[in-house]
Amino acid sequence: MLSRLFAVRSVESIVNDLNSAPPLKRVLTARSLTAIGLGATIGTGVFILTGTVAANHAGPALTLALLIAAIGSGFAAICYAEFAAMIPVSGSAYTYSYATLGEAIAWFIGWNLSLEYMLSASAVAVGWSAYVASLLTKIGIHLPEALINAPLGKTESGRLGFTGAVVNMPAVLVVLALGWVCYVGVKESARLNNFMVFIKVGIIVVFILAGISFIDTANWQPFLPENTGKRGEFGWSGVFQGAAIIFFSYIGFDTASTAAREARNPQRDVPLGILGALGVSAVLYIAMSAVLTGMVPYTSLDVAAPVAVALDAHPQIAWLGALVETGAIVGMTSVILMSLLGQPRIFLAMAEDGLLPPSWKKIHPVHRTPHVATIVATVVAAIIAGLLPLDVLGELISIGILLAFTGVCIGVLVLRYTKPDMPRPFRVPFAPVTCVLGALVCMTMMAFLPPDTWWRLGIWSALGFSIYAAYGYRHSKLRAEGR
Ligand code: ALA
Repeated sequence: MLSRLFAVRSVESIVNDLNSAPPLKRVLTARSLTAIGLGATIGTGVFILTGTVAANHAGPALTLALLIAAIGSGFAAICYAEFAAMIPVSGSAYTYSYATLGEAIAWFIGWNLSLEYMLSASAVAVGWSAYVASLLTKIGIHLPEALINAPLGKTESGRLGFTGAVVNMPAVLVVLALGWVCYVGVKESARLNNFMVFIKVGIIVVFILAGISFIDTANWQPFLPENTGKRGEFGWSGVFQGAAIIFFSYIGFDTASTAAREARNPQRDVPLGILGALGVSAVLYIAMSAVLTGMVPYTSLDVAAPVAVALDAHPQIAWLGALVETGAIVGMTSVILMSLLGQPRIFLAMAEDGLLPPSWKKIHPVHRTPHVATIVATVVAAIIAGLLPLDVLGELISIGILLAFTGVCIGVLVLRYTKPDMPRPFRVPFAPVTCVLGALVCMTMMAFLPPDTWWRLGIWSALGFSIYAAYGYRHSKLRAEGR
């Protein structure tokens, strides 16, 4: 039974199956793949979480927390690039683990990837809804509270309870609308995404340039505030806990790997897209956070819109507030769109392997998209977005993805030993050191996440394994073919 659970699919069979599978539209270039990564990455994290991390965990050393999270993500990105060039399929880390660590682990990683894509679409939609509702209030339109809040939420005891609201309607509607764009086509989705990436990156650059002259270096002192005596509240433990929380803002850079089957030249362009998206986001985030913490004391940043607080403190550039708010909404919209684009492609790969129902691998005859999987991902993401609040969703997402990244770093190493001679269009430099460091940094960040999060991961994993036992294990194509 153990050997069945850890059965590995050979890379050759994955590539063969890919050649006989119904084709998707190969329309994506290196530029659009980088934009897909940026589209999925820059959103809630940089516009909301930076303030929380500076005010409660790291102070001006927020930049250091962002750097640590970027280094962890960077190691994972390089490992992703080696896999993506070798196995250009849509399953991303799920398929890479199937080829290296065996079916059960692949399922586990695939299940956790749905945190990155499907649940992240829901979480960001909830943030989007709050931003849009507050913008509407400013222009005199008041939506009923019962229709803009989740009916389930954390009660004072920390448990989940009813809040009295009915449904978070804007969150549901935005997911359904963007899911429809994904249904219609990858080209349409990529075009809309390119436009949104241009706007949000432009707005961040404008903020950095405008804010630089308002930096007061006294705000950077002390750079690393002393620990309060509690783990995670400033000092080095604060920086590491901050890195684990702010890691959320890098999630999504690997989305290009799910679009490998739609890339014109996947072996060259997917690695470029992954590394490009991470590099650009890291530079923008670190510059933006240095400006942010230089403009106002970090203690004033524990708010939902920290960038607005920094701008309001300087009347000469306060007018930029509306622009940044637009940037945040556009940013979140593209994160939802790209997450909804990534999830069905992972489902598609899992269904092709027999681990999910066969109808999920259907390709639309006209649009050439995995339309059934797109409908499933959109409807589930919309239901979750309508019912659950942001904090409950957000905490679960980071830990799941750190786990998937750890799997990718270890997977690259395993394949170097099991298939040393396979052609590798891109090779991780300085392996095995890079891979081991990648796994270690990701695991260290996981260790700094609150214990509650581990409990939720346990429950999520138990749910995943029950579905695998009830369906995937019995329908696995690998097992049926006795490979
Ligand atoms: N990285 C994405 C965001 O910050 C999930 O919204």
